[in-house]
Amino acid sequence: MSLPREIAELWSAGTPIVYLVTGEEERGVAACREAARAFEATAAVWSAHRGLEPLAPSARDPLDLLDAVLQAPAPLLAVLLDFHLELQRSAVARKLRDLAPRLSAEGRCLAVVAPRLVLPDGLAHEAAVLRLPLPSDAELGTVLDAAAAHAGAAPDAAARHRAVGAALGLGEAQARRAFLRALRADPALGARGFAAVVQEKVRILARDLGLELVESAERPEDLGGLEGFKAWMAERALAFAPDARRFGLPAPRGVLLLGVQGCGKSLASKVAATQLGVPLVRLDLPRVLGAGEGAEENLARALEAAEVNAPMALWVDEIEKAFAGSGPGQGGDARAARLLGAFSTWLQERRRPVFVVATANDVTRLPPELLRRGRFDELFFVDLPDLEARKAILAVHLRRRGRDPERFDLQALAQLCADYSGAELEQVVVGGLHRAYALGRELETQDLRRVAQDLVPLYRTYEENIKALREWARGRARTAGREGAVVELFRRAGG
Ligand SMILES: Nc1ncnc2c1ncn2[C@@H]1O[C@H](COP(=O)(O)OP(=O)(O)OP(=O)(O)O)[C@@H](O)[C@H]1O
Ligand SMILES: [Mg+2]
Repeated sequence: MSLPREIAELWSAGTPIVYLVTGEEERGVAACREAARAFEATAAVWSAHRGLEPLAPSARDPLDLLDAVLQAPAPLLAVLLDFHLELQRSAVARKLRDLAPRLSAEGRCLAVVAPRLVLPDGLAHEAAVLRLPLPSDAELGTVLDAAAAHAGAAPDAAARHRAVGAALGLGEAQARRAFLRALRADPALGARGFAAVVQEKVRILARDLGLELVESAERPEDLGGLEGFKAWMAERALAFAPDARRFGLPAPRGVLLLGVQGCGKSLASKVAATQLGVPLVRLDLPRVLGAGEGAEENLARALEAAEVNAPMALWVDEIEKAFAGSGPGQGGDARAARLLGAFSTWLQERRRPVFVVATANDVTRLPPELLRRGRFDELFFVDLPDLEARKAILAVHLRRRGRDPERFDLQALAQLCADYSGAELEQVVVGGLHRAYALGRELETQDLRRVAQDLVPLYRTYEENIKALREWARGRARTAGREGAVVELFRRAGG
């Protein structure tokens, strides 16, 4: 249902207050005006600065405003700007509560258009809360046409279509600015104009919504070990294509990678996006949730923007840090719990193909809500690499630095590097290169061996934590490495 229709229906059902949450005031007001037109009702707009226009410009005080609304001829839709600030005054909230029954009985309705939801408890029953959705393709098309007319440009149909697609996820005013800028640079909206729209969108989404495009080209062969994960991803990638939907397969929803530091969780997230063949967008949750009162609205907007830009892989790195303290036993506050609830619901109910890749190190801080069925398709445990994986990781990093792995005794090195993480194996290669360079010759196995012997792996310090993590993961998570590798590690760890 369109938003104006929804407003009109709430109104005719006797709702005295419609609360429209949006950062786009102009669009919100336009939707209210359209609802009033459908009703053949008067629409008036109130602000503390201009009073109730056009009916009672002198009614600047919110208490006077409420009187003016009651005196104006019905049906009337009064659109109130910045009223979330006024509602914090107890006299205003009280008066509104007292008048609510009369408002609805007489065909008057108040529409609060505000960037965030601030509703005193006493008014929760009187108000219906709506969110203004992001502009659709069609609305953005209208914005583009107006911008083009303004700039005296006339992009062809194909260029128009591409530019509109590139702007999805932006608000109307943001899209208008992006289009104007692009049209100025390239009136035909060719490759240069298209790139300008994309660039502007990437900038705005990162700045306002904590959604950053991650430029990465990591391929499965850049990730050593984690064979189980890569094979599972390859299968899911097939199911991510539109053909699979027609075949009747549900869209893959996402994966949670849990495990030991420096073993490739972040790297695996990038590889997953490559395997799916979609862009990788990082959601900076701590930033989104750190917005205080506006956090819920921020989260909703970021998730909505992700969906309109589907297909994509949405990467939530170190998810437990964002929601730390939200659980009941964790001294968490109600707001953090609500945010976690909103995120979990979205994980389960999102409609568009947004594949979520989340990572976590610390299971003790991971809210159990995230582990329930239906949130992620699979939970993978990323352990320290086994012998085969260590050889593969050393080979990846030698190759990455232009060395042929065949020239080195990887078997012996990997044996020497038991309990080393992927990051530490990378350090062995880099350290070896330093050593060889200082000695003025080509890299040899002995350089790698020397560095490996001197390195103290984190495992020495965190053995207990890592064992506890393994214990937790047993039976809960699938192994990201080779099947069977876990058994081997347990035996070594005496588990
Ligand atoms: N399996 C692997 N294959 C190849 N390189 C790896 C692997 N694991 C780790 N590395 C190297 O170590 C670096 C750090 O790994 P990464 O950031 O992916 O680990 P992480 O599990 O996300 O660690 P943290 O928990 O500290 O965030 C990678 O950029 C990569 O160069
Ligand atoms: Mg990481």
